[in-house]
Amino acid sequence: MARVANKVALVTGGASGLGLASAQRLAEEGAIVVIADINRELGEAAASDIPGAQFALLDVSDEASWSALIDSIVAQHGRLDVLLNSAGVVRLASIEETTEEIWRLVNAVGTDGTFYGCKHALRVMKPAGSGSIINMCSTASIQGGPGIFAYAASKSAIRGITKSVAVLSAQSGYGVRCNSIHPGNMRTPMLQGVQDIVLENDPEAAQAMENIWVGEPVDVANMVLFLASDESRAVNGAALVVDNTTTITEGVVPRTVTQ
Ligand SMILES: NC(=O)c1ccc[n+]([C@@H]2O[C@H](COP(=O)([O-])OP(=O)(O)OC[C@H]3O[C@@H](n4cnc5c(N)ncnc54)[C@H](O)[C@@H]3O)[C@@H](O)[C@H]2O)c1
Repeated sequence: MARVANKVALVTGGASGLGLASAQRLAEEGAIVVIADINRELGEAAASDIPGAQFALLDVSDEASWSALIDSIVAQHGRLDVLLNSAGVVRLASIEETTEEIWRLVNAVGTDGTFYGCKHALRVMKPAGSGSIINMCSTASIQGGPGIFAYAASKSAIRGITKSVAVLSAQSGYGVRCNSIHPGNMRTPMLQGVQDIVLENDPEAAQAMENIWVGEPVDVANMVLFLASDESRAVNGAALVVDNTTTITEGVVPRTVTQ
């Protein structure tokens, strides 16, 4: 029996990286997947590669678009069982370098996008009496990071959003679960972009990054699959780390550990 058979799953940021890998894993295990992304070209290509998947253009920072998309999914499929909020952007800047523009962008996509997603998913999951909301956080919300100030702040907000939604649902008997996943470095276009900037500006730091463990998108997708499935029915309000100990070991884990 497929692990998420016939569940209707909406994946933001599903055109790339962790969202894409999660959309693929969910579909492999029987889910009907809607890929939502601001990048139409990549999103349509992703959806056409995944059996039964469809693409929806969505800017997660726009609440009206969220509301319309969730309503159209319920109109088409009858329900929404799973929401993965994976859309995100990162900017490399310390608090001293962070401009208002950087702060607003990172928080508009990360914090606002997750807020709107949780709010409108809850609106339709509550009357159904079930649902799983999964928010992509980061180890940055556990450790902070001097050079990713706005990102760490946004991911910390998402961690708080997650726990608040989970407790409301549990205490009110809504039947909706909400959990966050905290990946360490994962091999995606976002990480590649960060590595390219570091290499260009600080070769010594780039050398040090070579020692930091890097996971594969499927490692996170498998956690998404577990949280989306009924196997995780007792997991609610959890912050689940996927980092092969890097939050404990300050990032440095010999790569041989997983090779
Ligand atoms: N890759 C890592 O090492 C890593 C580690 C920890 C957390 N994360 C988090 O995982 C999530 C996915 O990251 P990734 O590595 O897959 O990045 P990615 O850049 O490969 O994918 C991000 C996707 O989000 C989409 N997106 C950006 N702004 C959007 C918007 N306003 N509306 C809708 N979609 C938008 C992009 O088009 C892209 O398809 C992010 O939230 C990121 O912060 C990534």
